[in-house]
Amino acid sequence: MWIIANWKSNKNIAEALDWVGKVGPDLERKENLKVVVCPNYTDIEEVKKAILVGNYPMLVGAQDLSAFDNGPYTGEESARILKELVDLVILGHSERRENCSETDQIVEEKVKRALEHDIIPLVCVQNKETPVPENVKLVAFEPVFAIGTGNPDNSEDASKVAESFKEKYGPASAGLEVLYGGSVDSQNAKAFLQQENISGLLIGTSSLDPQEFIKIVEVAYQFI
Ligand code: PGA
Repeated sequence: MWIIANWKSNKNIAEALDWVGKVGPDLERKENLKVVVCPNYTDIEEVKKAILVGNYPMLVGAQDLSAFDNGPYTGEESARILKELVDLVILGHSERRENCSETDQIVEEKVKRALEHDIIPLVCVQNKETPVPENVKLVAFEPVFAIGTGNPDNSEDASKVAESFKEKYGPASAGLEVLYGGSVDSQNAKAFLQQENISGLLIGTSSLDPQEFIKIVEVAYQFI
C-alpha cells in the first residue's frame, strides 16, 4: 500500500523541514506500507537529509522530471541527477498536462528516463482512456473534477476504474497497482482504501498539514 504526499508548489525549505519533523516521528515502520513525500525540487535534498538523520520510514519522490537525458537543457531536472535523492516520480499530473502542455508522448518519454535511472514512475491517469506507458507498475487515477475541489469521486466508481486499468494492462504489466487521488482527506480515506482495487492514495491539499496527513496514514494502518 502507498500513501503519497504531493505538495505541489507550496512549501519552502523551512516549512518542509517543519513538516518532516512533525510527521516523521509519528510514522510506524510497516513492511507493506510505503509513505512517500514529493516536495519541490529545492526542498528535496533537505527533506531527504532530515529523513535520513531521523531514520524515518519515508521515501522521497519528485513531482516531475525531464524528458531529456543530461545535457544542454536549461532549467530541466534529469533523471540521472534526481536519482541521487528520489525513489519515485509523479508523471502526467493533470496540472502539468493543462498548464505545461504535457502530452501522452512526453509522459511516455519521461517514463523511459525514470526507468533508465531506476526511479519508480507513478503515472497519473485522468480517465479510462488515458494511456499507461509500457513497464509502468504504478498508476494514480485522478479525475480532474476531484482535484483540489473538496469533491472526491465516489469510491466504488473509482474502484471500477482501477479495475478496468488492471484488466486492460494486467497481462502486459503484471502487478499493476492503482492509487486514487482527488480531494482525499482523513474522513474519506477509509472509503477508498477499503476498495480491493485501490492500492493507496495520492494526496495534495490534505498532505500539506502534518496532523491531517498523519491521520490519513493511521487510516492506512488498518488495511495492511
Ligand atoms: P488534492 O490533489 O488532494 O488537493 O485534490 C491531489 C493531486 O492533485 O494529486
